[in-house]
Amino acid sequence: MPAVVSKLPHVGTTIFTVMTERARECGAINLAQGFPDYDAPSRLKELVAQHVAVGHNQYAPMIGVATLRERISAKMSGTHGRVFDPEREITITLGATEAIFSAVLALVHPGEEVILFDPSYDSYAPAVLLAGGRPVRIPLAPPEFSIDWDRVRAALTPRTRLVVLNTPHNPTGTVLPPSELDVLAELLRSTDALVLGDEVYEHIIFDGAQHASVMAHPELASRGISVFSFGKTLHATGWRVGYAVAPEQITRELRRVHQFNTFSITTPVQHAIADFLQEAPEHNAGLGAYYARKRDKFLGALRGSRFTWRPSAGTYFQLLDYSAIADEDDLTFAETVLRDAGVAAIPVSPFYASPPRLRVLRFCFAKNDATLEEAAERLRRL
Ligand SMILES: Cc1ncc(COP(=O)(O)O)c(C=O)c1O
Repeated sequence: MPAVVSKLPHVGTTIFTVMTERARECGAINLAQGFPDYDAPSRLKELVAQHVAVGHNQYAPMIGVATLRERISAKMSGTHGRVFDPEREITITLGATEAIFSAVLALVHPGEEVILFDPSYDSYAPAVLLAGGRPVRIPLAPPEFSIDWDRVRAALTPRTRLVVLNTPHNPTGTVLPPSELDVLAELLRSTDALVLGDEVYEHIIFDGAQHASVMAHPELASRGISVFSFGKTLHATGWRVGYAVAPEQITRELRRVHQFNTFSITTPVQHAIADFLQEAPEHNAGLGAYYARKRDKFLGALRGSRFTWRPSAGTYFQLLDYSAIADEDDLTFAETVLRDAGVAAIPVSPFYASPPRLRVLRFCFAKNDATLEEAAERLRRL
């Protein structure tokens, strides 16, 4: 057999898959991978069934079903105060994952640099490497995990093509203050760098915080692309529908890759989501309160445990600090929690190129109350 030379020799199975598999093997409660243990809204499921029944079963348009793009545009003009052209600026993708991958392949040329903030979502660096680019990884330090803008300034070079920002942030549950987009805009003013906003948790934001969207920023929007996920907002991660919003010139390049990457996305589901956005405009606005209640339920049930925490500011993830329980690294402690408490969580060090000393694990609270209470009761025993 000819030698198969890996293009991603350092990429193994993602930590999400590893921990979910370990949870299954150990019969543990899975608070590791980010998906709900409850279903999508029943009206939405009915709509999918209806669209399958009426025959919306052939290829959708490459850029996405028109009504869905129009509804996204309407939703965004409500939240962003700007009108995005559904024909030229909005593209339906196979989840946010494809939006990120296609955007990076479309925008990053061999030898160009992409600034990533660690802990960074695990799909970013492989996409950059496959594009022939160089990930430039800037660590966020615990416990704040905030961006050190001096380090960003120092990392910018004439080869910087893209800065990837994720807010609300997975895995730390932090939210970027909108004023920091002004800092980024100022830093990039004299460069050719673009900005990719990974905003899949845009509506899952708590305690009155404001979401800082790249596409809502007066200056960054002209050099930006924001990606979103219906999997997150509709409790349907398995349907794999997301979208990207960017100015026409960037969208044109994104679509050149998207066209040959996935071509187009599941037709009946796109129609159903379009109808649902029309029928239930209040759904997104309710997500913050919905998940804040789950966060508070989980943290309330953890009172009396030896974990400590800063309440998550956004996303459906909560970091718990275990320094009072053990002095082992997070990969080892994730195994301890699995074995001794029967709860699966995600260690954060795999999301760093060079991890600092970390004594936190990430727990997903997109779960039924009974699951959260049972998990917290087990965690209190540690
Ligand atoms: C920060 C972040 N970006 C992107 C994604 C991928 O979203 P999707 O499931 O729509 O592909 C996720 C999913 O967990 C995520 O947490």
